[in-house]
Amino acid sequence: MPEEKPTLDHEHLPTKLGTDLITKFYRLLKGTTIYDRKNVNIDRLTQECLQVINSIIQSEGSLLLKIVRDNFFFNNIRIIVKADKYAMFKAFWQEMRKRWIGEMEFSAEVGGEHLKDFVYLLSGLEESNESNYLYVKKQLEYRNIESIHVGKLEFFKDEDIYIDSEDQKRYSKEVYFKSIGLVKEVVESINQQKALNIRKAKRLMQNAVNAIMQDDSTLLGLANIKNYDEYTFNHSVNVAIYAIALGQRIGIPKKHLSHLGMAGLFHDMGKTRIPKEILNKTGKLSPEEWLMMRCHPVIGTELIMRMKEWGELSTRMMDGAFEHHLRYDLTGYPRLTRKRKITLFGRIIAISDFYDALVRPRVYNRFPYVSEKILGIMLERSGKDFDPAIVKVFINMIGVFPLGTLVLLNTNEMGIVTQIQEDTELIDRPRVCLLYYSDGEYRKGKVVDLREMDEATRNFRRSIVKTLDPNEYNINVTEFLI
Ligand SMILES: [Fe+2]
Ligand SMILES: [Fe+2]
Repeated sequence: MPEEKPTLDHEHLPTKLGTDLITKFYRLLKGTTIYDRKNVNIDRLTQECLQVINSIIQSEGSLLLKIVRDNFFFNNIRIIVKADKYAMFKAFWQEMRKRWIGEMEFSAEVGGEHLKDFVYLLSGLEESNESNYLYVKKQLEYRNIESIHVGKLEFFKDEDIYIDSEDQKRYSKEVYFKSIGLVKEVVESINQQKALNIRKAKRLMQNAVNAIMQDDSTLLGLANIKNYDEYTFNHSVNVAIYAIALGQRIGIPKKHLSHLGMAGLFHDMGKTRIPKEILNKTGKLSPEEWLMMRCHPVIGTELIMRMKEWGELSTRMMDGAFEHHLRYDLTGYPRLTRKRKITLFGRIIAISDFYDALVRPRVYNRFPYVSEKILGIMLERSGKDFDPAIVKVFINMIGVFPLGTLVLLNTNEMGIVTQIQEDTELIDRPRVCLLYYSDGEYRKGKVVDLREMDEATRNFRRSIVKTLDPNEYNINVTEFLI
C-alpha cells in the first residue's frame, strides 16, 4: 500500500502523529498475543513503534495519548480518524477499554527493552479490572521505568458500559432480535391499520447505534448470516445495521445515526403492499409483475408520508424508501421527471440494500453469491449505481471474508471466520474457528489465527483456499458465531 503523504498543514499534525503512533503501538500490542518476547517479529514491531515514539518526544517534547468517550486525544488534541483507519482505531480502543486503561504517557525517550516490558505488561492484564492501572504503575516502578505512565479509563455518566465482551454480545443479539420483532409489528400494524409505536422504534435504533459504536462485529456478523426464514424482516434489520455501521465510519454524528437506522429499517415498507405471490415467486417475474414490484419505493414513500407521528424523521425515512433503487446516476427506478441529487442517506441505504439482497439466499435465488463476488460487482458499478466513495468504505468494512464465512484452508481444514483483522493488509488472515466432524455433524473446534507463522519454514501455518456454502454442508453458522 502506498504511504500516506505527509501533511504540512500544522493543524493536522496531531492527527498524523497520533495515527502513526496508534498504528504502530496497536500492531505491537497485537504481536504480543502471537509471539513471545524473543521472536524476531516482536523485535521488528518494537523498533517500528520505538521510532515513532522517540521522534515524537524529540519534536513535541512529550507524548500523551488519552481516551475520552469514543475519541482519542493526542497531546490534548482530538485525533480525526480517517475512514480507512477506523477499524484499527476502534480495535485499539476496545483493547484499552477492556483493560480499563485510558491514558498512556511517555515523558522521555525510551529503549526497546523497556517498551517491550510495558507492552507485554499491558497485554497480560486481566479484563474489566478497574485497578489495572495501579498494577501497571507498580510494575513499571519495580523495573525502574520512569518515562512511561498510565492512567485509569474515565467513564461518563451517560455512557453505556459493556466492558465485558460476552455482555456486549448478548446485548447486540438482543437488539438484533428485538429489531426483527419490531419490523414484524410494524408490518402487521400497517396491514391492520393500527397505530405504530414510534417511541419504541426510535429507542431500539438508538440501542443499535450504541451497540455498533461499542463493537460492530457481533451485529455485522448477525447481519451476514445467511438465513432463509423471514427474509423480509431480517433484510430490513440488516440494511439498518449496515447503514449505521457505514454511517459511523464516514463520520455521521451519533444523533443522526439512529435516524439513518430507521430509514434503513423501513426502506422496503412499500413491499407490504405488493402481493405475496409476487414477492415470493420462485420463477421469473412477468413484465406486469415487475412493474408492480417496481412500485414499492413510491408506495413506501406514501406510507411513511401518512404517518404523522414520525415528525422530522419522516423526511429522512422517505428519502431511504424513495431513493434506494434510484441508483447514483439516476438510471434506476422510479423514473424521475426532474433530476435531483440522491441524498447521503439514500446513497448509504442503496449500498446496504444491494449487498444484503445478494449475500443472502431467498426463495428465487437459491444460492447466494459469496461476498467477494458481490463486492467485486459493487466496485465495478461504483460511480454508476453507487457512490464510489461510500463503496470503498463499505468494502473496507465488510472485508474479503466477512464474519460467519465458511472457508476451506490449505491444511484441508474447514472453519468459520470469527474475527477480522483490523489491519487492512491482513484482511485475508482472520481468526477462524475450526470445525471437525463427529457423530454426524460439524462441531466447534479450536480458534486459530491465520497470521500465525511456522517458525521453521517462515510461512503462514494456514491460509484460506476458498469460501464454501454452509447450506451444502448443512452448517448453521449462527451456532458457531454467537
Ligand atoms: Fe427495495
Ligand atoms: Fe431492500
